[in-house]
Amino acid sequence: MDRLSRKIIRLTRVDSTQRVAFELAERGAADGTVVVADTQTAGRGRRGRVWQDEPGDSLLTSVIVRSQLRVVDLPKLSLAAALAVAEAIEATTGLRARLKWPNDVLVNGRKLAGILLESRIVAEPVVVAGIGINLRQRSFPEELAQTATSVGLEAGRAVGRDELLEAVLAAFDRWRTRLERDGFAPLRERWLALADTIGRAVTVGEHAGVAVDLAADGALVLQEAQGVRHVVAGEVLGSEHG
Ligand code: BTN
Repeated sequence: MDRLSRKIIRLTRVDSTQRVAFELAERGAADGTVVVADTQTAGRGRRGRVWQDEPGDSLLTSVIVRSQLRVVDLPKLSLAAALAVAEAIEATTGLRARLKWPNDVLVNGRKLAGILLESRIVAEPVVVAGIGINLRQRSFPEELAQTATSVGLEAGRAVGRDELLEAVLAAFDRWRTRLERDGFAPLRERWLALADTIGRAVTVGEHAGVAVDLAADGALVLQEAQGVRHVVAGEVLGSEHG
């Protein structure tokens, strides 16, 4: 989708751009419609967590995706979104962004962006890819102080929110189209090239092992003491090199 035909809805303050995007989708909003907000009062994170922000500090956006992918392949869009964010950060700031399975974006080992992919069946499947990027934060609440970072902290300069949004949307379109046209292999290859998780000792839920690969279905392949295990989306904890 080109820049001019994309509809972007800009809001000042909203509970969650995800909620707004689903509401718009129910009312028939087109594929590729984007919602952006300056601040969210009930931002949603993965696994039921909250995603907090101070007004104007973050890029908070949700993209409506009406995809031709099979329902079973829709979760791969979250890997596409993470990759798009990593590429957009690198293109606009020169920072080396890395991917933590399933879909966190890290810079210098700290989380700079998160993705929340949600889907609903509204006559047909609708996916909303929610993207939160830390832009201008100078510090974080105590519980995030050791693990989070922002573009401003890492790049040492401000990066325009719209410039980054434009780059994210263009990269997401590219990877989504590639996934729909060519299957998962090219996305998997690129994801692995930017992966931070591979080669590290990790814990996903109750499973612990060394992350060794990304499977053809998007699962993380763990080498455990007893053998190889494929894990579907969960939380990756721990990050020592294996
Ligand atoms: C995570 O837990 O890492 C995912 C965070 C996703 C946050 C974004 S901000 C824009 C969109 N709206 C929401 O309520 N959540 C997502």
